[in-house]
Amino acid sequence: MTQENNHAITQFMLNRRSVLIKNMTEPGPSSDDLETILTIATRVPDHRKLKPWRLLVLQGDARRVFGETLAQVKAQKEAMKEIQVDIEKQCFMRAPLVIAVVASPVEHKTPIEEQILSAGAVCQNINIAAASLGYVSQWVTGWSCLDKAALKAVGLSDDEFIAGYLYIGSCDEKPADRQRPELDEVVTYWEKS
Ligand SMILES: Cc1cc2nc3c(=O)[nH]c(=O)nc-3n(C[C@H](O)[C@H](O)[C@H](O)COP(=O)(O)O)c2cc1C
Repeated sequence: MTQENNHAITQFMLNRRSVLIKNMTEPGPSSDDLETILTIATRVPDHRKLKPWRLLVLQGDARRVFGETLAQVKAQKEAMKEIQVDIEKQCFMRAPLVIAVVASPVEHKTPIEEQILSAGAVCQNINIAAASLGYVSQWVTGWSCLDKAALKAVGLSDDEFIAGYLYIGSCDEKPADRQRPELDEVVTYWEKS
């Protein structure tokens, strides 16, 4: 080992977990904390430095407008009851802050799959950064992430999609852990047969 180890980070990573949006409350990150989260978010492996992602910060009233924009698109596509439209409109108000991670892959020597994986790393770095600052978060998706009309309505280009909505807030209670895989279910020490 050539670098200093840090047991506190190891313990943090062994225990970090997501919290359901319905259990999130105010406060959301301060502006300094948000800046830290965004900086850590963009500090990810990125083959050939393409930055094949970008981030939309939804806070305050922007959460309502974003939800209303998407609700309008959905209502044009399918018959919806008024209550369903209201749920769509309120969707992003469920937490103090939402960061939409936009995957922006381009034609390049770096395969598209690698670029999308980098966007996934941005999402998970947001989970880690939020938790490191004492907030809770959850990475969710939904119909709008891949829907062309929805994406266009919120300003994405034809080649972009939403890799995840990262909801961030606070929570007083420690969440119960979810079941994790046993290592032998998913790990093989590969050798040639
Ligand atoms: C790409 C992606 C999309 C997800 N979408 C949802 C979702 O829409 N709704 C949901 O409840 N969980 C969703 N999850 C799962 C949660 O984000 C998370 O994996 C789960 O709550 C446990 O996470 P933890 O290991 O951080 O505790 C998604 C996960 C990924 C990787």
